Amino acid sequence: MAYCSSISSVDLQAQVLVSCGDRGISSTSNRGPACQLFLGKLHRLRLGNPDSGVGFLSSFQSAGLRNAGRRQRKHQCKSKVLKLSSQRASLKDNKHEPEFEQQLTESARDIDSSIDRRQLLISSFTAAGLPLINNQSLAAPIQPPDLTQCQKAALPPGSNPKCCLPVPTKTTDFQFDQSLPMRVRMAAHLVDAAYIAKYNRAYELLRALPADDPRTYLQQAAVHCAFCESAYLQKNTSEKLQIHFSWLFFPWHRWYLYFHERILAKMLNDDTFALPFWNWDNQSVVSPLANLIPAAYIENASLVDNTRNPSHQPPTLVDLTYSGKEGGLDPEKQRAENNNVMHQEVVSGARTPSLFFGQAYRAGDANTPGPGSVERAPHTAIHVWTGGDMGNFATAGKDALFYAHHTNVDRLWNVWKSLGGRRKDISDPDWLSTEFVFYDENATLVKVKVADALSTEKLSYTYQNVDNPWITHSPSSLSRSSSSIAGTKPVSSNGVASPASAEATVLEEIEEFGEEVEGKFKKLEGSAFRSNVKRPVKDLFKKLKSQITDEELEEVLVIQGVEVPSDKISKFDVFINLPDADDKTPLNIPEFAGSFVNVPHLGMGPGMTRKATLRIGIAEKLEELGIKDVSKVIVTLVPKGQGKDVPIIIKGIKIEYD
Ligand code: C2O
Repeated sequence: MAYCSSISSVDLQAQVLVSCGDRGISSTSNRGPACQLFLGKLHRLRLGNPDSGVGFLSSFQSAGLRNAGRRQRKHQCKSKVLKLSSQRASLKDNKHEPEFEQQLTESARDIDSSIDRRQLLISSFTAAGLPLINNQSLAAPIQPPDLTQCQKAALPPGSNPKCCLPVPTKTTDFQFDQSLPMRVRMAAHLVDAAYIAKYNRAYELLRALPADDPRTYLQQAAVHCAFCESAYLQKNTSEKLQIHFSWLFFPWHRWYLYFHERILAKMLNDDTFALPFWNWDNQSVVSPLANLIPAAYIENASLVDNTRNPSHQPPTLVDLTYSGKEGGLDPEKQRAENNNVMHQEVVSGARTPSLFFGQAYRAGDANTPGPGSVERAPHTAIHVWTGGDMGNFATAGKDALFYAHHTNVDRLWNVWKSLGGRRKDISDPDWLSTEFVFYDENATLVKVKVADALSTEKLSYTYQNVDNPWITHSPSSLSRSSSSIAGTKPVSSNGVASPASAEATVLEEIEEFGEEVEGKFKKLEGSAFRSNVKRPVKDLFKKLKSQITDEELEEVLVIQGVEVPSDKISKFDVFINLPDADDKTPLNIPEFAGSFVNVPHLGMGPGMTRKATLRIGIAEKLEELGIKDVSKVIVTLVPKGQGKDVPIIIKGIKIEYD
């Protein structure tokens, strides 16, 4: 009972809490049986006394649990309490029929931490006339690490860079520079010879800086390595700090590029200088093509990296579905698949902030909670496809192409926001107040926060306007393509099959793997895995999220407990209602829902694994497939490419609402 020894006023509610904190909730899993038991108990308690949750929370808050690990459990526990309480509040107008109450208890387990706790508090507690509880003190944003404590990521002997930033003599807070001209980042395939000469010159000068200058080329690469190979711990914790595979991905890289660009501008003594962007998402057939390595990076000494995959030189088109093995598609099919990946990962499958940005990552949390859609699929594919330095996060920053790759990712953040609906920046204060440090153009360490990275205009840069035709891309429908898909057995035929018959097929043929429970896992080693997945009751969630319209409510397929070897490429694709999908199934079909790709980590040797949760928005897809009324859907996971036989572990599959 170590966790609860400091609790002095132990009432019945606190005892329930203690049993949760003590046994049920850990930093890796908050779904242990004890916690579910706790939720059940609490649920009954709350049904009996509508106000007991408030007293419960105060005893919880006065418990005085201090250290970070405990703090996190407390945070998770409290989130659940809040969620359950608000559900209880939303039940006020309902009859407490046993069936409905059963759903409530089940739903409490189903709700993911991605639901904004503060929104719940505001929308549900106040609506129910209950006191609003200040939840802010229970979470905290990630702070910059202590740069004197570089652990030197465990890279193979002789690797360069070493992944440590120079220790600063002073740190200043970021200020917007009002005197900066508005800079326009141009598409790399469209820039002129004069620009390329200047750009190449900037990198020459960067490479010529003394080795201990924080702005020098290798030091710039080391910045990326440091924050992807966990060279630092999160401040005051023993948790490794990692800026990939979470909601830090977009803002951290935006800041990284901002300072990198300012440093290049300083080399040139030209404040108008802007990085170009590699417009790999653009599948236009008009020359010069955007979807291959831009000529500038092939022809200029300072922009070349000889380690890139030699078979992916122009005129080879980028493969946004790449998994370490050539797909061998003809250019037309490749373009279509690339467009569908873009449409899926930016438009259809990323209708909410958490789907796009990735999952919450707060002070004290274990790293890599789960990537957003763009990070997980096209971004990662481009790294692996380019290969060489780019193919590994430790060395990616050594290739000048890396920065143009990431300016495009950064541009997609703006494009995504322009699509409307719920596609807005995260409003969670823990995200907005997260801080990072970077060396600026004067070699001064600057502290920045996420809130200052939301507007590129405020940072005095913008992007050249280019077409994004994938926004309206629609894949070839299964009925048209099914004859050419050997062995597939479509369950839905574009809405023609009645939901009832689709369901019958599902129930009869395919078992339900179910959501994560302790001790259960499935290892995918080269062959596809399918499961039917229950869709939880929607009405309850709609009530919880009353500020969201029916159309805006997102349905999310969650693949829980994904675990892959850190040092190997691995990939699997996800299909909805295509039970016999395999590694030959084309990806330009509506049943394709998204991919998981792992970029190897040089610093993590054999035996280390990378863990994450994969979340894919499927509301639009179910509609498109004509199966929005079925109670279960079939999900097929297909391992692909070079890492096809790599053991990929998954621990659960479920659907939730966002
Ligand atoms: Cu920091 Cu493209 O990764």
